Amino acid sequence: MMFGATAASARNIDAIKKAGTIIVATEGQYAPFNFFEGSKLSGFEVDVMEGVAKKMGVKIEWKTLGFDALLTGLGQDRWDLVIASHGITEERAKAVTFTDPHYCSGGAIVTKNAALRTAKDLAGKTIAVQTGSSYLDAAQKIPGVKEVKNFPKDPDAQAAVMSDRADAWVTDKFVVMDVLKNNKNTGLRATGMLFVEKIAAAVSKGNDGLAGAYNKALGEFMAKGGGYEALSMKYFGEDVRCK
Ligand code: ARG
Repeated sequence: MMFGATAASARNIDAIKKAGTIIVATEGQYAPFNFFEGSKLSGFEVDVMEGVAKKMGVKIEWKTLGFDALLTGLGQDRWDLVIASHGITEERAKAVTFTDPHYCSGGAIVTKNAALRTAKDLAGKTIAVQTGSSYLDAAQKIPGVKEVKNFPKDPDAQAAVMSDRADAWVTDKFVVMDVLKNNKNTGLRATGMLFVEKIAAAVSKGNDGLAGAYNKALGEFMAKGGGYEALSMKYFGEDVRCK
């Protein structure tokens, strides 16, 4: 069994420190935030987590799984922390405890059709989004939307709009920037923003000791000279922290 090797039941910060290793789950299919470069797990938030763990004085044991399974796994004590570009929402906050945010972003409309710029323009249209994402919720709320198609992996939502199976794709604005930077021939453009969100890691509901230790380390990492700004410049050419 996949998780058999590690005993990780609702570990508090003392147990994690004692073990010397924090078990962190992410997706690994969401460039430039968490993705595989060959066999190496990489990305902005993977690097942020490495920096935070260092300040916490623990090593990371990474797990990679489908996006939709990540927060659920916290409730089942399968890993200690999730970092996978989750927007802080009220709904999610009923089930998990969010940490302080590590960046701010939002859902962008991505399409071949320059006329689709606002939620209003998406009435009567088909939208592609990732399963379990805040984009799915936002798309479903658009008045008069024709159909919302959801895909377990965000790149498959992108593929749907590229092959005209959807009129628009809604995803993180920095994901789009990365796609457009790396491939000039998609025919896609980001035409507008649907909403903004704060992105944070999550721990199991009420694991406040762990959240507190993470937040303290994140604060140090995000302070001047702590490493965050250089990382943000490397990935995005700008500082993506919440202002
Ligand atoms: N920010 C969006 C959300 O909160 C999408 C996150 C997708 N993350 C991922 N690793 N695929 O749902």
